[in-house]
Amino acid sequence: MGYRITAEILQRIKDENDIVTVVSGYLTLKKSGRSYKAICPFHGEKTPSFIVTPEKGIFHCFGCGAGGDSISFVMRMENLLFPEAAALLAKRAGIQLELTREDGEANRVRTRLLQLNNEAAAFYHRCLTREKEGQPGRDYLQKRKITAATVKEFNLGFAPSGYPLERHLTAAGFSRAEIEAAGLKFFLRVIFPIYNLSSECLGFGGRTVTDAEPKYLNSPETPVFSKGAGLYGLSLSRQPIQQKGELLLVEGYLDLIKVYQHGFRNVAAGLGTALTPTQARLIRRFTDRVVLLYDGDRAGRLAARRNLEVLLANDLEISVVTLPDQADPDSYLDQHGPEALNKILAGDRKNPLLFQLEMAALEQDLSRPEARINAAREILPLCQVIESPLRRSEYMSQLAEALQLHEEALRQEFHNLQKKSEGRRVETPAVPAPKRKPGLHQAEEILLAAALCARELRLELARRLTEDHFSDPEHRAVFRKLVQLPETATAEMARAELEGTVQNTEEFLVRVGNLSESEELLEQNFQGCLNRILAHSREERLTRPLRTEKIDGVTDPDLEDLRRFQALIQERHQHK
Ligand code: CTP
Ligand code: MN
Repeated sequence: MGYRITAEILQRIKDENDIVTVVSGYLTLKKSGRSYKAICPFHGEKTPSFIVTPEKGIFHCFGCGAGGDSISFVMRMENLLFPEAAALLAKRAGIQLELTREDGEANRVRTRLLQLNNEAAAFYHRCLTREKEGQPGRDYLQKRKITAATVKEFNLGFAPSGYPLERHLTAAGFSRAEIEAAGLKFFLRVIFPIYNLSSECLGFGGRTVTDAEPKYLNSPETPVFSKGAGLYGLSLSRQPIQQKGELLLVEGYLDLIKVYQHGFRNVAAGLGTALTPTQARLIRRFTDRVVLLYDGDRAGRLAARRNLEVLLANDLEISVVTLPDQADPDSYLDQHGPEALNKILAGDRKNPLLFQLEMAALEQDLSRPEARINAAREILPLCQVIESPLRRSEYMSQLAEALQLHEEALRQEFHNLQKKSEGRRVETPAVPAPKRKPGLHQAEEILLAAALCARELRLELARRLTEDHFSDPEHRAVFRKLVQLPETATAEMARAELEGTVQNTEEFLVRVGNLSESEELLEQNFQGCLNRILAHSREERLTRPLRTEKIDGVTDPDLEDLRRFQALIQERHQHK
């Protein structure tokens, strides 16, 4: 939620939250001359290189380069956006904040939309369960072997032909504009209401019962609904997921419902597009183990491959289960029942690399050594996103064995790949990667374009980067604008906000606009570009000479310490 924070209020917030008090709320500070030292909370270290300079109201870490004022400190400690951190500090200092006009407004819009969706869900559900017009929906769900109990639990519904919903919503007090904004143009479709963790109805998926195209239709992106943000079913399955310690990830609404109905309750599904980092992190809140249970058909396998990267990059332990005979979980359960699925889940899990290998085997004859080497080269980049050396190592042993290649040789190949890509991360073969690997500047552009076309990517960016990560001043200006937007601002609002921010707004928008033509491409490259920029700034901080002019609050012996410390880090870095 956004508050109105004027320049004066910001100053008051800073004045009343002096850096020493704020930091010592989190760290143990030791006085050292005119400044204070602590163990840096932002990177692993044993000797303190984190310095707080009260006169200037700033902190700076000479180990990792983090630095800023009390607000940026709280942003990093609490993983908050700038306005959120400012609001938190205001609250601590007892400073009253008003909601921004837009945000008061955005908040109102949001609440109304949620109420409207709720009303619509009830309408669709009533139609499915009670009305004459609901007959096609009932017939369809019966055909798909969905029970009445499941219909109730998921609050499934049916959208009849015509638009009686509009009349209903109007009678319930919603304006034409509000109804329009919710975009509930579903006709002759079974309706799947999509809930968040607080059981608020954010939007809907709808499956045709008449073979109309497209087969599935979602609510449009609205201030409360984004396909890249949530997971279907999670409000029901979060506890089972925590209890089981793992999540079954399926592709479709019906797969989810069928799997759940058969007693596998630790299940969730994406919302019809490739998974985003936001969704991966949402999963991580509940478990670190994911079983991908995707269709055995080609589309399903490709979807699995696309999603592997983003899941692995977020430190999730993944195994993949593919079903025989091109079945999806729903059709498999219809044919073989839960016992059979249970057996497969217990026995047929593949590590992600072996799964990739299986894909490669579909396309080429792996009895040829040349083909096996090719396959290895295709698969190894996926290893690069895996942070844990242990996990990586385990996966690679298995891969070497399956490919009948020397494990040492495979490791060497991986090592070379690591060196070559210099911190640039994965390009899985399934991803239509840009022709030239993105340079730093292009990586920045791609990230900004992504942030401009999808709200959740914008929030992700704001959490992971600071202005200083961008090398181009124009990019910095854009980023600054983007992070100041209220969290609820849509992609459109973000674009509008940009007008006048950069020197040649038009040209910039055209350029990133071209990039954002392919939303899919942006999402796929997002993590890679982010890693590229993070790796670059890590590199730069470690090799750049100390800037003495920035630290005149620090006494000389301190400086000596810091120089030694930095040399140590550099040395360790070179040995890596
Ligand atoms: N999907 C979509 N738009 C489409 C097709 C599919 O958004 N035109 C998404 C939906 O979320 C769907 C998922 O992709 O649930 C899986 O699609 P698919 O495998 O084609 O459908 P099934 O789940 O097998 O659906 P059904 O069994 O109803 O045919
Ligand atoms: Mn299906």
